[in-house]
Amino acid sequence: MGLTLLKNIKECVTLQGVAKKQGRHLIASDLCIMNETSIVHDGNQILWVGKTGQIPHNFVFEIEIDLTNSVVLPGMIDCHTHLVFGGDRSHEYFMRLNGSTYEEIAASGGGILSTANATRAMDASSLKQQAIARVDRLAERGVVAIEIKSGYGLTRDSERKLSQIIGELKRDYAKKGIKIINTYMAAHAIPPEYGNSRSHDYMLEVVIPLLDELSQNSLTRPDFVDIFLEDNYFNQSDANILFQKCSEFNIPFKAHVDELKNSGNLKYAVESGAISCEHMLYSDEVSIKSLAQSDTVGVLLPGTAFFLGKKMAPARAMLDAGCRLAIGSDFNPGSCHWDDVFKIAIMSAPTLKMNVAEILSAVTYNAAQALELPNYGFIEVGSTPRLSIFRDTSLQQLFYRWSNT
Ligand code: NIG
Ligand code: FE
Repeated sequence: MGLTLLKNIKECVTLQGVAKKQGRHLIASDLCIMNETSIVHDGNQILWVGKTGQIPHNFVFEIEIDLTNSVVLPGMIDCHTHLVFGGDRSHEYFMRLNGSTYEEIAASGGGILSTANATRAMDASSLKQQAIARVDRLAERGVVAIEIKSGYGLTRDSERKLSQIIGELKRDYAKKGIKIINTYMAAHAIPPEYGNSRSHDYMLEVVIPLLDELSQNSLTRPDFVDIFLEDNYFNQSDANILFQKCSEFNIPFKAHVDELKNSGNLKYAVESGAISCEHMLYSDEVSIKSLAQSDTVGVLLPGTAFFLGKKMAPARAMLDAGCRLAIGSDFNPGSCHWDDVFKIAIMSAPTLKMNVAEILSAVTYNAAQALELPNYGFIEVGSTPRLSIFRDTSLQQLFYRWSNT
């Protein structure tokens, strides 16, 4: 590919300061906004960033794009979705509005298990078509990397089907410049065949053998493994087995922790070496301290707190302690049927008490860290030229306008 010139960018939000500080203790000046700027890239990496008037003459451009009056951000990343699923759970949402809790609905056979029934019943090609439409919608909004978790099959065959679909999406979207990250999350719920208390047997008979199988195939080999650590789902002794296998297979892991109550699982997962921990709505001070002192990225999912009517994660305490925080959508049919990670982030900013640099890095640089994408999430010579471009607006307008008009 020849060279591309993006010229006359009104506001280029480079996040170079964020990258220098590796996403911690961020203030407005870390945004490192450059005005009247141009970017030169070759499709794989950024070769030059600077004032439009100073573009070196020795470059020959195949493509020139005029971005007068535009804002350019490092490409947005949704680092947490469960977007391959069948059916919907609108009836459960109504039950919750009428007084039932997420936990009560799950205990009576709804929740993840009801989506598992719908997902098992759908054939692979229909599931894939639906997932493609969902990925396309995110891409239209400027998202350049999307993590997709399996976990609505919960049998060996149906989880294989989901991991295969995610692997195919990863392969096909790579050609379009969209990075898909494949996360294996068969440890999402205990299927009815195993009853409520047999998480251990399900782990040994389904989750681990399938992980072994998927790891041997380049299309399905997971980029990450994830587990739902919560009462009535999986416990630390299940996780010990899973994390041990991940180490053997050389696959990094993540964990859903403290979404429904504080169980000390954040501290446990951090100490076990998780790349990222997700949710943390109820995490306490001791856990927050352990997160701050580690390299683990905390992934907040405020759309889920909105959708479930729960309190927000203690973001300010985490940030002040020195944690690095990302924000994902958690798009799924049950706890957050909302797929717009940028809107989720800007609408949560006042409640989470996060400043502009913290919010933007949460959906770019720190989200990239949660997915081990070291060259994503900032704009600098050498970084990956996947960018989110907003025409006829300003950075302030992007934060201020909550409607699409
Ligand atoms: O991240 N916590 C586990 N998984 C999803 C919920 C999935 C569902 O309710 O279907 C979550 O909130
Ligand atoms: Fe989730």
